[in-house]
Amino acid sequence: MFSTQPVNVLDCTHLVPQPIDVAPIRSPQEVHTVIANKLRGRQVVEIGTRNGDGMSCFARAATKASAVEVNQKYCDLLEERKRIEKLAFDIQCSDYTLAQLDADFITWWQQAPMTNQGVLENLRCLQQQGGIRIRAQAVLVFDTQWRTDMASFQSLKKLIKWKQEVNYDEFTQCEKFKLMQSIKSVESGFTCERSVGRFIVAGINIADMEIGKHCAKPVQSQADGRIYWHGMGLFSSRKAKNDNEGILLFMGTILLCTLMVLVLLRRVIRNKRSPRLRIM
Ligand SMILES: C[S@@+](CC[C@H](N)C(=O)[O-])C[C@H]1O[C@@H](n2cnc3c(N)ncnc32)[C@H](O)[C@@H]1O
Repeated sequence: MFSTQPVNVLDCTHLVPQPIDVAPIRSPQEVHTVIANKLRGRQVVEIGTRNGDGMSCFARAATKASAVEVNQKYCDLLEERKRIEKLAFDIQCSDYTLAQLDADFITWWQQAPMTNQGVLENLRCLQQQGGIRIRAQAVLVFDTQWRTDMASFQSLKKLIKWKQEVNYDEFTQCEKFKLMQSIKSVESGFTCERSVGRFIVAGINIADMEIGKHCAKPVQSQADGRIYWHGMGLFSSRKAKNDNEGILLFMGTILLCTLMVLVLLRRVIRNKRSPRLRIM
């Protein structure tokens, strides 16, 4: 019987022998291997790069790689790691909704409040507005032991173009990590239960997503000339700013109309009370 699993040429456990984090804090290195082989010779954006254990491998496989990370602490470490490991990837230290996301593959592992559904909808809007190439594919990862991930997997099932199940075991590393704490990653309050298990890696063509009602037209930011779009930004202040501006404009118009009506009414009443003398 033939195996349907593609042969992985690149092996992230060998290419990144000293990862900073460990599963389940980050996605397993076996998962990174599957993604790295998928994006070999192509362009990739990773949304939410954390300390870069995945990116350290992706950057060696892709022709162009970009790390998008909202947390400044991780960004600083990524800069340092990039320099020490002589890796070629750029770092966009911002909320993903404010980043340049165009690539052949856009990958992430969801973390509240950043949900798979939300990211996919936003990417579809951006694509519709020309900010992402039409053939771009989202590569999502799902921890089969994490209920939220599996609920998301079920709801996106119809859209999935390909998927690969990945068994992994980082239990020994996890136990060691808990005892010693990695020098660079300080984490607490997790157990090693999910350091062994199975992930699903899946590809979704962004163009297959329905275009949401909220993606109407791009908004030109006053701040730096970049294009943003309505409905974007799960916690970006820019959206709130634009919405407030809209409300203020609407209230202002109503107030002006009311004032004009009042002035007109006053004139009519005055004219009725003391009609002007007609000059014959
Ligand atoms: C679950 S971790 C995944 C890390 C890594 N990609 C992996 O697979 O192990 C989620 C990462 O996304 C980052 N993140 C969360 N919301 C984000 C946003 N709106 N924009 C950019 N990064 C975000 C977090 O800081 C964190 O590093």
